[in-house]
Amino acid sequence: MTESNTRFVAADPSQPASNDIWEPVVINKAQMSGEAERLLSRDVADPIERQVRIVHPKACARGLGLAPGIEVRLSVLKPGERTRPYRHNATEVGFCIEGEGRVAIQNEDRKFERYDVWNVPSWSQVVVENPSRKPAVWLTYSNAPLLRLLNVHLVEDEKTTGIVKQEQGAASGHGDGSVKIRDLFQIPGDETWLMSYERLINPPNVESNSHLWRWSKVKAELDTLTALGSAYRGRRLYLLYNPMTGRTNGTTPSFFATMTVRPPNIIDRPHRHASAAINYYFSGAGYSRVAGKHYEWAAGDLMLSAPGWVIHNHASHDQGPVYELTIQGLGNFDYDQEKGGNIPADVTALNGATLRLKGYMIPMDQAENITQFALVPSLFACCFGQPPQIQHTIVVNCPKGKAVGYTADEIVVEGTLKVQEKKDDGYIISVFEMEVNSVKMAPKG
Ligand SMILES: [Fe+2]
Repeated sequence: MTESNTRFVAADPSQPASNDIWEPVVINKAQMSGEAERLLSRDVADPIERQVRIVHPKACARGLGLAPGIEVRLSVLKPGERTRPYRHNATEVGFCIEGEGRVAIQNEDRKFERYDVWNVPSWSQVVVENPSRKPAVWLTYSNAPLLRLLNVHLVEDEKTTGIVKQEQGAASGHGDGSVKIRDLFQIPGDETWLMSYERLINPPNVESNSHLWRWSKVKAELDTLTALGSAYRGRRLYLLYNPMTGRTNGTTPSFFATMTVRPPNIIDRPHRHASAAINYYFSGAGYSRVAGKHYEWAAGDLMLSAPGWVIHNHASHDQGPVYELTIQGLGNFDYDQEKGGNIPADVTALNGATLRLKGYMIPMDQAENITQFALVPSLFACCFGQPPQIQHTIVVNCPKGKAVGYTADEIVVEGTLKVQEKKDDGYIISVFEMEVNSVKMAPKG
């Protein structure tokens, strides 16, 4: 009898998971251009070697991402250079940050310019070329870390033949004909759905093409959103939409990329999502607050701006508009504010109570003359390393005509508590709201 050396490990699936949050990182413009210079100066056997992965300090040796599931590569080509073709089962998004070039993806050969974005479907052959007289620099975002962690990142290699040709007639292998196999059906009168082996291994083909989103075209549309006044509470952005992703709203089946414009002094509302987000800022300057910590950024910086499920918001400084490309992982990226209900009775009983509370301020829309802010128990992750959640946050409304200035110090507010789920666009944005009559600095010590 053989005995395996696997282990039995105690499990209680109701216990909260201890996720290892990757801290935000900013790779600043000087670091980015320094590395691009170094890559351009190297002697290489093939120009495809003029690229590096930008790896988060917490990345493991197999993943090598900037976020746990997202690889970011910095690539350069000297004038006249062309990479050798490659193809693999990862999906990628390319984004030109300097110069110009051409990218051939399968049979589509397109010219790209600065800030153009393109997607690469999996198993599509890619060649990048720089026919211009200046260096070309671009970023590539890939879901390869996830595939590597699953031990299924397959890169075509003539020696090992990474690609398996699909079996001919796999879909028609229906036995001797006496039994008719149904592809997909529900058992009448039951909730059971079943799918045949043939359809499982050979599902209806979804055509996956490459696309190019020209910055000149996207910018013109984006700039019309700057006209939205300060009452607009959404985001001034467009998703670079790939129609093959359907209702999952992606740029590839793994990522969605958005182009955002931030007019000066716009502060996003704090929020969180399961997907990690990586931003590249290419105009203007601003800051992010992530789990209570403050991060400054400016044009030319790349940033892991939102680790998954960590409360964050971004804000632009008082200068030209910010333009940024954001890449976020797809799949289970619903905001936690989606569902509601279940406020305990003892909590709803607090509705209408007059309270005096201590906490910290996160401005919601304004940079100064703040009339509404979120009060959170701590600006830094608490002892369990968890950022404040919606039920730990109180939306504070200041009395009419009594705006307050921003402070990072602890404050004391006094007023009347309202316990009520408030929705905006289908999401719960607050559970606790307080009409306050005073906002004061907390006594030190
Ligand atoms: Fe976000």
